[in-house]
Amino acid sequence: MNVVIGADHGGFTLKEELRPFIEKLGHTVTDAGAYSDESSDYPDFAGLVAEKIMDNKADRGIVICGSGVGACVAANKFPGVRASVCHDTYSAHQGVEHDDMNVLCIGARIIGTALAHDIVRSFLDAKFASDVERYRRRLNKVLDIEKKYSTGK
Ligand code: RB5
Repeated sequence: MNVVIGADHGGFTLKEELRPFIEKLGHTVTDAGAYSDESSDYPDFAGLVAEKIMDNKADRGIVICGSGVGACVAANKFPGVRASVCHDTYSAHQGVEHDDMNVLCIGARIIGTALAHDIVRSFLDAKFASDVERYRRRLNKVLDIEKKYSTGK
């Protein structure tokens, strides 16, 4: 899969650790920055990741900030993005399987590298269970909400 990853200063170090890990899993990684741990703004990097998902330039996105919360709030403003903070492996795969989550948000100040690896692997290995009618129906309701309130680019 094509995976785009981004982080602010709070997530920079974890992003640097995750990039080679994701490549070793067999994915192609686009690094949207930040490229240093200098103070930066999470909406900038959440936005760069979200745009790749919105424009179908990447299959999955990962955004890392201090808590994961700011990145998640910002990413979810982009049409087509379904982002969530996951700090456990169950949510990381179930969010894809049931909800078609396409952006994983992580708080580098909350979890350590080993758990982040397991969470990222769970997220990337998971597939939306599109054969389950109730998941499709719920996703369509989410897409309808997005369409109803979307004001365009
Ligand atoms: C940066 O200090 C921090 O506020 C940011 O990384 C993030 O945690 C916001 O949600």
